[in-house]
Amino acid sequence: MLQKLQQLQSTVLEHLPSISTEDALVEYKNSILGKTGELTLILKWLKDLSPEERSTVGKAANDIRDILTEAFDAEKNRIKNEVIAARLQSEWEDMTVPLAQKSGSLHPMTQVRLDVEDTFTRMGFDIYESMEVTTEYLNFDAVNVPKTHPARDMQDTFWLEGDGNVLATQTSCMQNLIMRAKDTPIRAIIPGRVFRNEDVDATHDNTFYQVEWIVVDKWIGISHLKFTITTMLSDIFGKEVTIRMRPGYFPFVEPGVEVDFSCPFCDGDGCRICKGSGWIEFMGAGLIHPHVIREGGLDPEVYSGFAFGFGLNRLVMIRYGIPDMRYFMSPDVRFLRQF
Ligand code: PHE
Repeated sequence: MLQKLQQLQSTVLEHLPSISTEDALVEYKNSILGKTGELTLILKWLKDLSPEERSTVGKAANDIRDILTEAFDAEKNRIKNEVIAARLQSEWEDMTVPLAQKSGSLHPMTQVRLDVEDTFTRMGFDIYESMEVTTEYLNFDAVNVPKTHPARDMQDTFWLEGDGNVLATQTSCMQNLIMRAKDTPIRAIIPGRVFRNEDVDATHDNTFYQVEWIVVDKWIGISHLKFTITTMLSDIFGKEVTIRMRPGYFPFVEPGVEVDFSCPFCDGDGCRICKGSGWIEFMGAGLIHPHVIREGGLDPEVYSGFAFGFGLNRLVMIRYGIPDMRYFMSPDVRFLRQF
């Protein structure tokens, strides 16, 4: 009997490591230690033995049952760990591998706007987003274009129903608001979306973006204007850019200038982008007209300032060589995916 028990123990202990699933283990355990298991049957025969035999064999059988129970528990842990290890192997994922699907990117217009804002915030400017719906007063009268002034014809306007409300035709519509709301010195950069009643073609759209900046303080002159423009353009094109100024008319500046910059692609030698001239026409600027300063609640005898504004679309087109302005408002992903 003892021998039989010993044999059972070694058979079980030998077999256990080959079991690889929990189900198989439970089944095997039942066949040994369960109600009708081998060991249980042996224990049932104990009653047929003599009292001495019963005590030795009984003790041995109990010991073996303990040993086997422990062995089964240990195997159960082994199998569990093996399952976890196998899952870790098969479900492992390298989070540093680049995603197969390209993630989205900022619109080229946004990228350049952020670059421009970056240059100006470094020079101490505050950013004010321009209003899209504004009033006739802010868009025109406050910047020196009264109702009967011929300069109103320079910008064909979308009028809204109601009390002289218009879609902003220029970010200059923010000049008066900012002068009234802020203490001097004022250093403001004003990006915004503007609207004009234009026929749409490769270089005109009825909806486009401008960036304006104004500085108002004592003793502000053309040299400050020149410095900020040159700094911004050199930042955008990553190389030294020079500018030239020609007389230009804008009702809210005096003197008013048109600013061209040296072509960053040919350094002034003449190429396709600058149409052979070496210069790119770019923006309107000037010293803020005394009427506009006064309308902004400041004394033009004490304060002066400069303003300039440019079409962001045009700058983005030049920077990336985009041939047609209509791409900007189009949802064509083939265009957008290039940026
Ligand atoms: N607001 C002018 C335009 O839209 C541009 C400009 C801004 C000119 C500031 C001079 C000074 O045409």
